[in-house]
Amino acid sequence: SGGSSESRGALVVLEGLDRSGKTSQSSRLLSYLEGLGHSAELWRFLDRSTDVGQMISSYLSNKSQLDDHTIHLLFSANHWEKRSLMETKLKIGTTLIVNHYFYSGVAFSSAKGLGVEWCKALEVGLLAPDLVLYLDIQPEKATERGGYGDERYEQLEFQKKVSQCYQIVDACQPIEDIEKQLFVRRNVCIKNHIKPRSNLTIV
Ligand code: TMP
Repeated sequence: SGGSSESRGALVVLEGLDRSGKTSQSSRLLSYLEGLGHSAELWRFLDRSTDVGQMISSYLSNKSQLDDHTIHLLFSANHWEKRSLMETKLKIGTTLIVNHYFYSGVAFSSAKGLGVEWCKALEVGLLAPDLVLYLDIQPEKATERGGYGDERYEQLEFQKKVSQCYQIVDACQPIEDIEKQLFVRRNVCIKNHIKPRSNLTIV
Protein backbone atom coordinates (compact mmCIF):
# COMPACT_ATOMS: atom_id res chain seq x y z
CA SER A 1 0.00 0.00 0.00
CA GLY A 2 1.92 2.96 -1.35
CA GLY A 3 4.72 5.05 0.09
CA SER A 4 6.40 5.23 3.42
CA SER A 5 3.88 7.68 4.82
CA GLU A 6 1.19 5.00 4.49
CA SER A 7 3.10 2.11 5.97
CA ARG A 8 4.09 3.91 9.13
CA GLY A 9 1.86 4.01 12.14
CA ALA A 10 -0.12 7.09 13.08
CA LEU A 11 0.56 9.21 16.11
CA VAL A 12 -2.80 9.94 17.69
CA VAL A 13 -2.92 12.15 20.76
CA LEU A 14 -5.79 12.51 23.19
CA GLU A 15 -5.76 15.70 25.16
CA GLY A 16 -7.95 17.27 27.77
CA LEU A 17 -8.23 18.06 31.43
CA ASP A 18 -7.85 15.44 34.10
CA ARG A 19 -10.98 13.23 34.21
CA SER A 20 -12.05 14.25 30.73
CA GLY A 21 -12.26 10.58 29.71
CA LYS A 22 -9.02 10.16 27.76
CA THR A 23 -8.21 6.78 29.25
CA SER A 24 -11.66 5.32 28.55
CA GLN A 25 -11.74 6.62 25.00
CA SER A 26 -8.20 5.65 24.15
CA SER A 27 -8.68 2.07 25.27
CA ARG A 28 -11.83 1.88 23.17
CA LEU A 29 -9.92 3.29 20.22
CA LEU A 30 -7.17 0.74 20.79
CA SER A 31 -9.64 -2.20 20.75
CA TYR A 32 -11.25 -0.80 17.64
CA LEU A 33 -7.95 -0.53 15.78
CA GLU A 34 -6.83 -3.96 16.93
CA GLY A 35 -10.15 -5.35 15.77
CA LEU A 36 -9.40 -4.00 12.33
CA GLY A 37 -6.08 -5.84 12.42
CA HIS A 38 -3.87 -2.80 12.99
CA SER A 39 -0.85 -2.90 15.17
CA ALA A 40 -1.45 -0.30 17.87
CA GLU A 41 -0.31 0.58 21.36
CA LEU A 42 -1.66 2.75 24.12
CA TRP A 43 0.84 5.16 25.67
CA ARG A 44 0.52 7.86 28.24
CA PHE A 45 2.40 10.85 29.52
CA LEU A 46 3.37 11.20 31.99
CA ASP A 47 5.27 7.92 31.61
CA ARG A 48 5.92 6.83 35.18
CA SER A 49 8.12 3.88 34.18
CA THR A 50 11.33 5.94 33.99
CA ASP A 51 13.47 7.64 36.64
CA VAL A 52 12.32 11.04 35.43
CA GLY A 53 8.72 9.81 35.49
CA GLN A 54 9.19 8.71 39.09
CA MET A 55 10.45 12.15 40.08
CA ILE A 56 7.42 13.78 38.49
CA SER A 57 5.12 11.24 40.07
CA SER A 58 6.40 11.98 43.54
CA TYR A 59 5.97 15.71 42.88
CA LEU A 60 2.37 15.18 41.74
CA SER A 61 1.55 13.17 44.82
CA ASN A 62 3.02 15.92 47.02
CA LYS A 63 5.91 13.78 48.21
CA SER A 64 8.42 16.28 46.90
CA GLN A 65 8.56 19.99 46.13
CA LEU A 66 9.94 21.36 42.89
CA ASP A 67 10.19 24.78 41.35
CA ASP A 68 7.70 25.32 38.48
CA HIS A 69 10.40 25.59 35.85
CA THR A 70 12.08 22.47 37.12
CA ILE A 71 8.91 20.37 36.94
CA HIS A 72 8.29 21.66 33.43
CA LEU A 73 11.80 20.60 32.42
CA LEU A 74 11.17 17.15 33.86
CA PHE A 75 7.88 16.74 31.97
CA SER A 76 9.66 17.81 28.83
CA ALA A 77 12.49 15.37 29.53
CA ASN A 78 9.87 12.65 29.96
CA HIS A 79 8.59 13.37 26.44
CA TRP A 80 12.12 13.46 25.06
CA GLU A 81 13.27 10.23 26.65
CA LYS A 82 10.49 8.36 24.82
CA ARG A 83 11.07 10.05 21.48
CA SER A 84 13.33 7.49 19.84
CA LEU A 85 11.16 4.53 20.87
CA MET A 86 8.16 6.45 19.61
CA GLU A 87 9.84 6.99 16.27
CA THR A 88 10.91 3.36 16.00
CA LYS A 89 7.40 2.10 16.70
CA LEU A 90 5.80 4.46 14.22
CA LYS A 91 8.30 3.53 11.53
CA ILE A 92 7.64 -0.19 11.89
CA GLY A 93 3.94 0.46 11.43
CA THR A 94 2.63 0.61 14.98
CA THR A 95 0.00 3.23 15.61
CA LEU A 96 0.44 4.99 18.94
CA ILE A 97 -2.50 6.34 20.87
CA VAL A 98 -1.03 8.72 23.40
CA ASN A 99 -2.80 10.26 26.39
CA HIS A 100 -1.40 13.75 27.09
CA TYR A 101 1.56 15.10 25.17
CA PHE A 102 3.36 18.40 24.98
CA TYR A 103 0.07 20.29 24.64
CA SER A 104 -0.51 19.41 28.27
CA GLY A 105 3.07 20.27 29.00
CA VAL A 106 2.49 23.79 27.75
CA ALA A 107 -1.06 24.17 29.07
CA PHE A 108 -0.34 22.99 32.63
CA SER A 109 2.90 24.94 33.00
CA SER A 110 1.63 28.15 31.46
CA ALA A 111 -1.41 27.90 33.73
CA LYS A 112 1.07 28.38 36.57
CA GLY A 113 2.33 31.56 34.95
CA LEU A 114 5.37 30.33 33.02
CA GLY A 115 5.86 31.95 29.62
CA VAL A 116 4.16 30.04 26.80
CA GLU A 117 7.10 30.52 24.44
CA TRP A 118 9.56 29.26 27.04
CA CYS A 119 7.37 26.20 27.64
CA LYS A 120 6.98 25.48 23.94
CA ALA A 121 10.65 25.89 23.12
CA LEU A 122 11.58 22.75 25.01
CA GLU A 123 9.20 20.63 22.97
CA VAL A 124 10.52 21.71 19.58
CA GLY A 125 11.98 18.66 17.88
CA LEU A 126 9.52 16.13 19.27
CA LEU A 127 7.42 14.12 16.84
CA ALA A 128 4.34 15.94 15.62
CA PRO A 129 1.03 14.08 16.02
CA ASP A 130 -1.04 13.19 12.98
CA LEU A 131 -4.21 13.79 14.92
CA VAL A 132 -5.02 15.50 18.20
CA LEU A 133 -8.38 14.76 19.79
CA TYR A 134 -9.30 17.21 22.49
CA LEU A 135 -11.92 16.02 24.96
CA ASP A 136 -13.67 19.14 26.09
CA ILE A 137 -15.18 19.10 29.56
CA GLN A 138 -16.15 21.89 31.90
CA PRO A 139 -13.73 21.87 34.83
CA GLU A 140 -16.70 21.80 37.26
CA LYS A 141 -18.07 18.66 35.61
CA ALA A 142 -14.69 16.93 35.79
CA THR A 143 -14.56 17.37 39.56
CA GLU A 144 -17.72 15.29 39.89
CA ARG A 145 -16.03 12.28 38.34
CA GLY A 146 -14.49 9.51 40.44
CA GLY A 147 -10.95 9.66 41.76
CA TYR A 148 -10.70 13.41 41.34
CA GLY A 149 -8.53 15.31 43.75
CA ASP A 150 -5.84 12.72 44.43
CA GLU A 151 -3.00 14.62 42.82
CA ARG A 152 -1.52 18.09 43.06
CA TYR A 153 -2.99 19.35 39.79
CA GLU A 154 -6.49 17.99 40.35
CA GLN A 155 -7.98 21.11 41.84
CA LEU A 156 -10.82 23.06 40.33
CA GLU A 157 -9.24 26.50 40.27
CA PHE A 158 -6.08 25.19 38.66
CA GLN A 159 -7.93 23.06 36.11
CA LYS A 160 -9.95 26.12 35.11
CA LYS A 161 -6.74 27.96 34.29
CA VAL A 162 -5.39 24.95 32.41
CA SER A 163 -8.54 24.71 30.32
CA GLN A 164 -8.00 28.31 29.19
CA CYS A 165 -4.39 27.55 28.35
CA TYR A 166 -5.36 24.74 25.96
CA GLN A 167 -6.47 27.54 23.66
CA ILE A 168 -9.73 26.01 22.55
CA VAL A 169 -11.73 28.79 20.94
CA ASP A 170 -15.29 29.20 22.21
CA ALA A 171 -17.37 29.66 19.07
CA CYS A 172 -20.23 31.26 21.00
CA GLN A 173 -18.34 34.45 21.73
CA PRO A 174 -18.87 37.70 19.83
CA ILE A 175 -17.53 37.38 16.28
CA GLU A 176 -14.77 39.97 16.76
CA ASP A 177 -13.46 38.18 19.86
CA ILE A 178 -13.27 34.88 18.01
CA GLU A 179 -11.50 36.52 15.10
CA LYS A 180 -8.98 38.09 17.41
CA GLN A 181 -8.12 34.74 18.99
CA LEU A 182 -7.92 32.93 15.67
CA PHE A 183 -5.71 35.67 14.29
CA VAL A 184 -3.16 35.22 17.06
CA ARG A 185 -3.12 31.44 16.69
CA ARG A 186 -2.96 31.51 12.93
CA ASN A 187 0.06 33.77 13.08
CA VAL A 188 1.72 31.50 15.60
CA CYS A 189 1.17 28.57 13.18
CA ILE A 190 2.54 30.49 10.23
CA LYS A 191 5.54 31.58 12.26
CA ASN A 192 6.25 27.99 13.23
CA HIS A 193 5.89 26.76 9.65
CA ILE A 194 3.18 24.27 10.44
CA LYS A 195 2.36 22.38 7.25
CA PRO A 196 0.31 19.35 6.21
CA ARG A 197 1.77 16.15 7.53
CA SER A 198 2.42 13.09 5.41
CA ASN A 199 5.77 11.63 6.36
CA LEU A 200 6.80 11.75 9.97
CA THR A 201 7.46 15.33 10.91
CA ILE A 202 8.89 17.01 13.92
CA VAL A 203 7.62 19.92 15.89
P1 TMP B 1 -1.67 11.47 34.22
O1 TMP B 1 -1.80 11.11 35.65
O2 TMP B 1 -2.97 11.58 33.48
O3 TMP B 1 -0.67 10.64 33.49
O4 TMP B 1 -1.12 12.98 34.13
C1 TMP B 1 -0.29 13.52 35.04
C2 TMP B 1 -0.60 14.98 35.25
O5 TMP B 1 0.44 15.78 34.70
C3 TMP B 1 -1.88 15.52 34.65
O6 TMP B 1 -2.46 16.37 35.62
C4 TMP B 1 -1.44 16.32 33.48
C5 TMP B 1 -0.08 16.79 33.86
N1 TMP B 1 0.89 16.98 32.79
C6 TMP B 1 1.69 18.11 32.79
O7 TMP B 1 1.56 18.97 33.65
N2 TMP B 1 2.64 18.25 31.83
C7 TMP B 1 2.85 17.32 30.85
O8 TMP B 1 3.72 17.48 30.01
C8 TMP B 1 2.01 16.14 30.87
C9 TMP B 1 2.20 15.09 29.86
C10 TMP B 1 1.05 16.03 31.86
